[in-house]
Amino acid sequence: MDRNAPIGVFDSGVGGLTVVREIIRQIPDERVVYFGDTARVPYGTKSRDTVIRYSRQIIRFLRTKDVKAIVIACNTASSYALETVKKESDIPVIGVINAGAKMAAEITKNGRIGVIGTEATINSGIYTEVIRKFNPRAEVFGKACPLFVPLVEEGLLHDSVTDEIAFRYTADLKGKYIDTLVLGCTHYPLIRSTLRRIMGEGVELVNPAYETAIELKQLLEKEGMSCDQNCGPDEKYQFYVSDLAEKFTNIAKAILPEQVKETLQIPIEEY
Ligand code: DGL
Repeated sequence: MDRNAPIGVFDSGVGGLTVVREIIRQIPDERVVYFGDTARVPYGTKSRDTVIRYSRQIIRFLRTKDVKAIVIACNTASSYALETVKKESDIPVIGVINAGAKMAAEITKNGRIGVIGTEATINSGIYTEVIRKFNPRAEVFGKACPLFVPLVEEGLLHDSVTDEIAFRYTADLKGKYIDTLVLGCTHYPLIRSTLRRIMGEGVELVNPAYETAIELKQLLEKEGMSCDQNCGPDEKYQFYVSDLAEKFTNIAKAILPEQVKETLQIPIEEY
């Protein structure tokens, strides 16, 4: 495997760019090929079988770019598909759940942890399971927030509508006296300032993207697969989607202004 090959990263839309942002911060020499499944977003309301099928297609597409490792930058696909696709792959595949759950389990002081995510992620119970593995006494309170993903995909990151929805979704959690809240969907760090304001300073917000980038860095080091060559920005970051490339570029530029120049559309159903 070529150590200077890119890392493949995917999500249902723009959310996974919060993971790419952390990869750029932690391991700036690495190249990234990103795929956002904008034709089929959201994943959070789909079945396990469908999310597994989508994930397999995306991995087949990313393999055509000769990626050396894959990051499933989507909690929903990590919950439903990671274990399956990992077994099928001869290159490393990591998800976002483990790293975020571990961090939450470690930093909570009162053992009361909230998790917000898509319906699929919350209903899967995976965060409760993994957090308890690290901290068996933790109490975990999940809340599905299905409207956040479309709000973010529409670019309503600082908007009174997003505020109103966030107030409603977090009302239950506030009554549970949590001291830690996991942003269990990669779209949510994009509305972090709203969540920060609503939850107040007493609640620590955990962004699994940060820990996932560290996990990736350690994995590449351990496998002797870290990039040792610097390449130009155009070659370094490539962005693909399954629909509405221009719309994606406009939102993505607000998240990664220096890296996103253009986005190409590909027929993902053919993979
Ligand atoms: N960003 C994704 C996640 O982390 C997917 C959200 C969705 O498509 O519903 O779960």
